[in-house]
Amino acid sequence: MDTVHIFDTTLRDGEQSPGFSMNCDEKVALARRLEALGVDVIEAGFPVASAGELDAVRAVAAAVRTARVAALARARREDVEAALAALKPAAQPRLHVFLATSDLHLQAKLRMTRREALEAISCWVRYGKERCPEVEFSAEDASRSDIRFLLEAMETAAEAGATILNLPDTVGFSTPEEYGAMFHRVRNHLGRVENIILSAHCHNDLGLAVANSLAAVRAGARQLECTINGIGERAGNASLEEIAVALAVRQNFFDVRTNIHLEEIYSASRTLCEITGVSVPPNKAVVGANAFAHEAGIHQDGILKNPLTYEIIRPEAVGVPTRRLVVGKHSGRNALRTRFIELGYTLSEQELRDCYRAAMDLADSGREITDRDLLTLIHQARRQNRSVAVPANATVVCGEAQ
Ligand code: KIV
Ligand code: ZN
Repeated sequence: MDTVHIFDTTLRDGEQSPGFSMNCDEKVALARRLEALGVDVIEAGFPVASAGELDAVRAVAAAVRTARVAALARARREDVEAALAALKPAAQPRLHVFLATSDLHLQAKLRMTRREALEAISCWVRYGKERCPEVEFSAEDASRSDIRFLLEAMETAAEAGATILNLPDTVGFSTPEEYGAMFHRVRNHLGRVENIILSAHCHNDLGLAVANSLAAVRAGARQLECTINGIGERAGNASLEEIAVALAVRQNFFDVRTNIHLEEIYSASRTLCEITGVSVPPNKAVVGANAFAHEAGIHQDGILKNPLTYEIIRPEAVGVPTRRLVVGKHSGRNALRTRFIELGYTLSEQELRDCYRAAMDLADSGREITDRDLLTLIHQARRQNRSVAVPANATVVCGEAQ
């Protein structure tokens, strides 16, 4: 079975989004977490951006031992020199050179002809390859490039020594069919060039970043570039946790594996939230607070009988401490009874009826029901039934069972 390499760009593309800037120590702390997660490549930053960025990339390069460390550079001398300097202490350095290949970017942004672009690719990939054992070339805005020119650019980069060729959907414009077709075209064209890994790099402007990345895998990509929690420019990059879990849960379909230790996913996500102070939306796949929460009574009943009824991922498999059965207005009696047992209370049928009715009244008021509410309800019910009983395993604080 082929391995799809995971190239994490949280520290570079992820950090480029507002509110996600990280200092040197924070970058090193997150890099260590990414290494424990099992990512194959850590893109540590864009060293030419500032002296502080160069130092941070160098510190990550020195700290990381098992993963490759990549540094980004435009196809120009000062960028490549800065990236090479930052990568000096790396055990396994990778220089990542990029240049746009779409006419829009070439004309409006770079004011370069296609010929000049090919010359720059050839020059700076070759220069990098003479000084760094591994060079990746990215054709920025590949998905909006003229396919014939894109093929020429890929061929030029490969001939100059790049062994990883990345085809970014820079503005998240592509669809899975189109993106996959582009990989087929490039793969067929480069058929005779050996030892080339094709890579996908997708942005989420149309919410298709993960779907496009997976389509690329189906079309032969063996490296995926992604970020923790899907952070990144504008609407973000493809989310690492969604990609890794999709490839694992649907392994029979994709027929590939990754080196990701799935059980480390949740703590990597939490580390990023703690460092940046930005939390993930509750409904975010895999790592959102609701990803393993069940409120509807029918679902809760199913989960209690067999979790496979409504869960395709075991929470423990991705490091989530436990699933949550939330008591809300859609909940059923079975879930309520179970939650009370977890809190240390075994309810009679009458108590369950009373508590359920009172819980639904509370839920109808639009409020989330907490464990404290449930304790109040059972005490009220028992008081009313003149049979207040404190369970053996409950502690009593200020006269109330906690
Ligand atoms: O989105 C993009 O095209 C990029 C490249 C620099 C790889 O981030
Ligand atoms: Zn990007």
